[in-house]
Amino acid sequence: MRKSTVRFWAFLAVLCFAIEAVASRCAEVPPGPKWLQTAVFYQVYPQSYFDSNGDGIGDLPGITAKLDYIQSVGCNAIWTNPVYESPFGDAGYDVADFYKVAPRYGTNEDLKNLCAEAHKRGMHVCLDLVAGHTSVFNQWFQRSALDRPNRYSNWYIWTPARENAPGSQPFPGDHNRSDRYLPNFFPFQPALNYGFAQPDPKKSWQLPTTDPACIDVREELKKIMKFWLDLGADGFRVDMAFSLIRNDPDHKAISALWHNYRAWIDQEYPEAVLISEWSDPAAAIPAGFHIDFFLAFGEPAYGLLLGPNSRPDGDARKPHAFFERAGGGDIKAFIQNYLKHYTVTKSRGYISIPTANHDTPRPTWGRDEQEVRTIFAMLLTMPGVPFIYYGDEIGMHYLPQTPNREGGLLDDIQRCGSRTPMQWSKRKNAGFSTASPEELYLPIDPSESRPDAASQEKDPASMLNFTRALLRLRRDHPALANAADFQPLYAEEKSYPFVYLRQADGERIIVSINPTAHSCAIALNEAANPTPLLVRGAVFRNGRLEMDPVSFGIFAVER
Ligand code: GLC
Ligand code: CA
Repeated sequence: MRKSTVRFWAFLAVLCFAIEAVASRCAEVPPGPKWLQTAVFYQVYPQSYFDSNGDGIGDLPGITAKLDYIQSVGCNAIWTNPVYESPFGDAGYDVADFYKVAPRYGTNEDLKNLCAEAHKRGMHVCLDLVAGHTSVFNQWFQRSALDRPNRYSNWYIWTPARENAPGSQPFPGDHNRSDRYLPNFFPFQPALNYGFAQPDPKKSWQLPTTDPACIDVREELKKIMKFWLDLGADGFRVDMAFSLIRNDPDHKAISALWHNYRAWIDQEYPEAVLISEWSDPAAAIPAGFHIDFFLAFGEPAYGLLLGPNSRPDGDARKPHAFFERAGGGDIKAFIQNYLKHYTVTKSRGYISIPTANHDTPRPTWGRDEQEVRTIFAMLLTMPGVPFIYYGDEIGMHYLPQTPNREGGLLDDIQRCGSRTPMQWSKRKNAGFSTASPEELYLPIDPSESRPDAASQEKDPASMLNFTRALLRLRRDHPALANAADFQPLYAEEKSYPFVYLRQADGERIIVSINPTAHSCAIALNEAANPTPLLVRGAVFRNGRLEMDPVSFGIFAVER
């Protein structure tokens, strides 16, 4: 063969190989807006973030004022808890008017401005969509409760009083019907009626999903989404996304419902995203969500890593979590469950393991800062879209003694302990507000040694700067990108460390985590020429990875 022919075939082979490599990589990137591929979210609990007008409650202009800070942490998207008009029986998850910002947070115009300011910085803003229920003070419910039939009569699920369905509530009032309504969460949160997938023929109050009232409710939700997307929002975190349809054992009807909304979003707002509080990615992502949270309900997930919501006893949680000094947690069970969801969803959407949220204790509970850093080293190098709960980036404490406000108490956990005002500086009220301390939404962490953003800004070794370093690493390395490949290398029950490989574009990164008070070591054949990227107490020696107590290592490797 002539030399030029050989060169031609060689060139063609390389080209095909490259095209295939690119194509196979592209195939792994989930559909949806491109910005999700590099998104890192920051969750803002608005009432506790920054009070711009000195009334003691955080507000929307306060969030806008802190966008530069959020961006400096390394986050490029925010999710805010509900900001709509509400009597605040459940911190705003009891919506009285879906189309109006609660005056304590500002105006619709303020929200528009927040979105516009975020967009100027290349950031995105997702709102909370409380799709499954409203407040009893919502006008739709007030009309639905009337004994005079009207458009809203079947917008909620009413059962004849004599049936006394479990959990059903009476709604008192002179002109009201005698039926009882079904709540969705707290008793003052009546469930919106999206219908029953399999209505009981003997119970005529169980309407099918095709009933005109249920279709009306479904269309109203679309209207709500449209309203805020048109104002500038970039998507929604959907509260209790699994809960809308009743008697739906195989999730068929609820999946079809979200499928519909997603098709509409893809068509009308292709840059918008849907994020579910479902905690079953294998169901939520095929149903149409771009992201699903891997939380502590339903399937064992977040809880296996960070622990049950019970107070740690000494240095152990019961049952054990993976992240505790005492050891005894089960990363194998976590990874088995994670892989079950990851393998079926990785080409379609993202799984998110948040650092915490407004319903869970913060990761600092019963842990020291090095332990928390070890948690961050894992969560911020895993695939999926990271979510940092406000204040976790500076190691704010979980404060179980915080008084209950706005539905902060659940059976086993005091949620307000994770909802205290953000600590900005050493100034009055930790720089959160100029109001007098009694006027604050919740008291500030009283501890002398409470962390704050301004002090940590100046300290290169601070938790804040550590979080920044991790997120910088994530940004700079294709192998750590949201959709980059993930493969566990060592994940055994009661054995440490936990090791995994991330890879993309020919780059390979190994992450190793030892949360326990004991040192550990394993042989790792996968690690040729390891280069430390961000390491604390981990070293490769003679083909073995050796780890100090409570340590982590992030290494670039060659094969
Ligand atoms: C979700 C929210 C929680 C709220 C509940 C009812 O779980 O995260 O804070 O209380 O739904 O809306
Ligand atoms: Ca305020």
